[in-house]
Amino acid sequence: MDTYRAIVSKREVRAFAEREVPGEVVARILQAGRMAGSAKNAQPLRFIVMREREGREALAACGGFAMHVPAAAFAVAIVLVPEPFRDDGGFTIFRGPFDAGRAAQNMMLAAWSEGVASCPASMHDAECARLVLGLPEGHLVANVIAFGYAAEGAERGIGGRPRMPLEEMVHEERW
Ligand SMILES: Cc1cc2nc3c(=O)[nH]c(=O)nc-3n(C[C@H](O)[C@H](O)[C@H](O)COP(=O)(O)O)c2cc1C
Repeated sequence: MDTYRAIVSKREVRAFAEREVPGEVVARILQAGRMAGSAKNAQPLRFIVMREREGREALAACGGFAMHVPAAAFAVAIVLVPEPFRDDGGFTIFRGPFDAGRAAQNMMLAAWSEGVASCPASMHDAECARLVLGLPEGHLVANVIAFGYAAEGAERGIGGRPRMPLEEMVHEERW
């Protein structure tokens, strides 16, 4: 599948077949995430691969719409490590959400081009996700991506929401 085809055909899948994803495919997916650029090449991301259903079930309870995570073949939690400095207010600053998005999309597209479906899951209770994953304090789960082969019929089923017309989305030169 060429890159453009992979991008425009990719849709979220939330129902997965009971079939393992081969280790070399998982490795390529992670490699695709690793190669995403980051601001100043700071590389503020770490990936936690979750192959065990038990951990994915615990994590699913931390999100409002993460019911698809347990049945996946595996999931990748994208973790933002804190910046090595704090702003004046004493809060930890995360500059990496954009980087996390790039890595997530890289992984999902690499997977899709090999026939592996996926869907993100937001962790609405960040502290819950931090504890389930055993993250040191100050680390944040940017998102969790569930991966697996689509269950029969799921490819065209759930999701596949329409996009706004291009002319509504795109402005020329100024707003
Ligand atoms: C940052 C982000 C968080 C998301 N969180 C969830 C989630 O928690 N649960 C879920 O089922 N889908 C989640 N999604 C998937 C969106 O619902 C999906 O991308 C959108 O509806 C378009 O779906 P489609 O590509 O299948 O048309 C998330 C997507 C993004 C980009």
